[in-house]
Amino acid sequence: MPMLNRFLFDVVLPRNEICNLKSDQQQLLKTALDGGHLVYFGKRNMGKTSVVRSVVIEDFVKAEPKALVLVVDFLGASSMNDFNHRVRVAFEHSMSMLNPTGAFISNLTKAIKSIRPSMTTDSITGDLGFSLGIDHNVREIPFQEILKQCAVYHEKFSKCLLVFDEFQEIALVKGAEAAFRSCFQELPGDLPIIILGSKKHLLSRIFADPSSPLANWGGFLEASEISAEEYLAYANERFQTSDQSIDLETCHYLKLRLQSNPECMNIVCFRLMRSEELLNKVLDRADVERCITKVVDERASVYMEFLSHFSELERKFLSEIAMRSPVLKPHGKEFLSAIKASTGSSGPMLKKMLDQAVVYQDPNGITLADPLLKEYLVRHN
Ligand SMILES: Nc1ncnc2c1ncn2[C@@H]1O[C@H](COP(=O)(O)OP(=O)(O)O)[C@@H](O)[C@H]1O
Ligand SMILES: [Mg+2]
Repeated sequence: MPMLNRFLFDVVLPRNEICNLKSDQQQLLKTALDGGHLVYFGKRNMGKTSVVRSVVIEDFVKAEPKALVLVVDFLGASSMNDFNHRVRVAFEHSMSMLNPTGAFISNLTKAIKSIRPSMTTDSITGDLGFSLGIDHNVREIPFQEILKQCAVYHEKFSKCLLVFDEFQEIALVKGAEAAFRSCFQELPGDLPIIILGSKKHLLSRIFADPSSPLANWGGFLEASEISAEEYLAYANERFQTSDQSIDLETCHYLKLRLQSNPECMNIVCFRLMRSEELLNKVLDRADVERCITKVVDERASVYMEFLSHFSELERKFLSEIAMRSPVLKPHGKEFLSAIKASTGSSGPMLKKMLDQAVVYQDPNGITLADPLLKEYLVRHN
């Protein structure tokens, strides 16, 4: 029997659970195969990581079975040492998958003096792994050294593909941007690199600012939004198991209420499927609305915990954004007096919220990044 598809959230989706995004997939794969550079950006939970990990890389490896694919995730990394560590661990992981030739390993040993590479076996699972075997007196290998070895692989052995997820974090660490920039510039021109990121203001500082050395480094691709029509088909396929369905109008409503955020749409649909009283039913707007309330109530403790990390003024700032979003003038008199903040305090506060991707800014104004947190704040104001 085929596996039933579900509404998933909080996970990297396997290929068959990704709703559409076909054109993104094709462009990314083309970049990888042609040896190009692409910055794939968009809000959180738009499916970027899933598309790249579960489709692009999978198809790339099918086409290039010997390829070295390095996938580094910088989520939560906040120092140069973190970056070095993440790159090294990613390299060890790709090497385990690749089971590299003796020639490459001996090359590696000659190139990096402080290592003793070896294949390892996990004592519990028995899985084969690869360890660089860093000398105990060496803290971490600089990421440049590792990427240089990826370049060697690319030029002498088989293709290499570099993927950096949540790459914009480098903009928050002093010296990191310059270090990555000069490293990238020394890599072979046809070594494909895909950069993913969810904080547009930081990414554009790195790649789009004309004065930045990485301006014109590669192309940009904004993660596509799923249309209501596409999500309708996706949702109804999943609602079959609960004998439920949704029509296009309700699907538009769901999308509108949740700011087109696919993860929140999945969370609410998952909850709709779990509602006894709604089984065997064509779902309508009222069902969606009630379900959003239920979800927000059930997640209240998560939001409370999240908000506890902010000051009272910051919480007030977020509440006010939630209620008025999009806010065009967060530094305007009216907004500041509503949150009882002084003129000088709103700039740093907004910067912090943007840097942490708690809020997003676009030409329409500032909005909360998480539509369900927004609902919570509106309800608990
Ligand atoms: N195309 C999509 N189809 C269905 N669900 C999606 C899609 N894109 C994102 N999601 C939802 O968002 C969650 C996070 O996806 P992820 O690939 O990590 O996004 P991103 O990397 O853009 O933050 C998934 O677990 C899923 O719930
Ligand atoms: Mg991601």
